[in-house]
Amino acid sequence: MINYIEVIKEVKCWARKVGKIQKEHLGENMVLNTKSSSVDLVTEMDRWSEEFLMNAIRDKYPDHAILSEEYGKHDIASNYLWVIDPLDGTTNYAQGLHVFAVSIALQYQSKTRLGIIYVPVLDQMFEAVRGQGAYLNGNAIRVGGKAELRESVLATGFPYDRAENPDNNVNYFSRITPQVRGIRRMGSAAYDLANVSAGLLDGYWELNLSPWDVAAGVLILEEAGGKVVYLPEKRGVSLVAGNEVICQKILEEIRAVDSIGS
Ligand code: IPD
Ligand code: CA
Ligand code: CA
Repeated sequence: MINYIEVIKEVKCWARKVGKIQKEHLGENMVLNTKSSSVDLVTEMDRWSEEFLMNAIRDKYPDHAILSEEYGKHDIASNYLWVIDPLDGTTNYAQGLHVFAVSIALQYQSKTRLGIIYVPVLDQMFEAVRGQGAYLNGNAIRVGGKAELRESVLATGFPYDRAENPDNNVNYFSRITPQVRGIRRMGSAAYDLANVSAGLLDGYWELNLSPWDVAAGVLILEEAGGKVVYLPEKRGVSLVAGNEVICQKILEEIRAVDSIGS
């Protein structure tokens, strides 16, 4: 059986190494390729970071499976699955903007046991081991305590196929934006979840994400006392997050829009 407290120390070292290189090369001209749509980018740095992390995992844990954004599934029969997004916030990174993160989770029998989100430019390490609380740079974090949308600052995002697919969150955004103190589109789902966990954002929702965008963030948020509700009827990984009350209030607004639409 793995000692997750020991493993996470090593995972943080990998993330710091990758983050250092990402930061050093931020703002350089990168070769940009597109993936699922003309706005879905992949840079050399996404690929290099993923390769670094995959090699580190394979070296140390050769019998573990890996699910990562660019490579997909390194499928070997194992109870352990690493779920990694080596650079969450690629559009920001390609622009030279500072909001991007390394996200790494380890699951055992489909349950996330540890997760880290590292924000290189701010040198912020968010981390959690299941059952052990959530931490930012070694200090315990908790979700915020707000109870009203009008006092809340929320984050959200929009899927890469937003131009072609009307199921693009613009309807929910239009409904919720006038009701809140502020709304942010940070450009990194991992960063959003990490900041809700630390009470710096009050809530977050997004549709059509992928497992690597949220695996670490959901554990960190739950360990920080937050609530995540998945929307299984929607595309991909769709979820609402916050403290219990704010999460519920966002959910009610989403349901209200859905009931008008149906
Ligand atoms: C994206 C970011 C973004 C979210 C997208 C994700 P990437 O990940 O998390 O905030 O809106 O849906 O795909 O492509 O930068 O790793
Ligand atoms: Ca991502
Ligand atoms: Ca990515």
